[in-house]
Amino acid sequence: MFDEAPASSNPLRDLDEWEQDLKRRYPEPANSFQATDPDKKQEEFRNYQAETRPSVREFYRLNHTHQTFDFVQAKRDQFLSLSRGQMGIWEAMEYLNQLVDDSDPDTNLPQIEHLLQTSEAIRRENLPDWFVLAGLIHDLGKILCLWNEPQWAVVGDTFPVGCPYSSTIVFHEFFEANPDATNPRFQSLLGIYEKGIGLQNVIMSWGHDEYLYHVMKNYLPEPALYMIRYHSCYPIHREGAYDELLSDHDREMFQWVRAFNKYDLYTKSHERPDIPQIRPYYESIIAKYFPAKIAW
Ligand SMILES: [Fe+2]
Ligand SMILES: [Fe+2]
Repeated sequence: MFDEAPASSNPLRDLDEWEQDLKRRYPEPANSFQATDPDKKQEEFRNYQAETRPSVREFYRLNHTHQTFDFVQAKRDQFLSLSRGQMGIWEAMEYLNQLVDDSDPDTNLPQIEHLLQTSEAIRRENLPDWFVLAGLIHDLGKILCLWNEPQWAVVGDTFPVGCPYSSTIVFHEFFEANPDATNPRFQSLLGIYEKGIGLQNVIMSWGHDEYLYHVMKNYLPEPALYMIRYHSCYPIHREGAYDELLSDHDREMFQWVRAFNKYDLYTKSHERPDIPQIRPYYESIIAKYFPAKIAW
């Protein structure tokens, strides 16, 4: 049905291909309160995997093979000193927007438009301004791609490292090639963690969420920081995995992460935001929470 997957460290046509695939895995429910029949869910999941494009499959293979505990530590050391420069929020949005690809312009929006469509959908529902702001900035961590990081270390579903990989993680079988999968230190019951340890003590796979959380952590209210840090953690916010690592506080905060996911995943439309018209509103909420420039 599809061409062979390209043999490259960047198999996706563009970063959006991952998000489009997420929408195929988690289609927008007609009624979000609908209960899902578990048998049907399993069957849908099998169909989803069988019908996944080779490029996306290869992307997950690379991600699951290389996101080891040591790899994550090395990336944290490399990026979390935030010594790459100072940029304002709007400036960072424009910087990210350089991430252009030659894919079909009918299905792919410039990055800045995904950010603004997400934030505008939140704003229309009269939610708090920090919630709108979380929508505006949530994917700015994708600037890692402009610093030559491979796609599998920027996007993709995130998951804890240092403990067994949940069977609910998409393409779980690809973890067989990950050296941590045979390391007894990580694969005993909870790996290096203890029950109820709380997610702030759990190391997550590396990507745009974790990086951006560290850029933003001094500036935004906690629910916005949870949205930023865990918005790609589908194993927890969609599948309910890793509950044994969560604290009660995490469970409370994940209500916000789940509330956010709906805007992230289901607001892509062809309606282009009128950027000059809405920019003054965004500049005003940016100025309320951020200094003119922050460290990246
Ligand atoms: Fe994202
Ligand atoms: Fe997003």
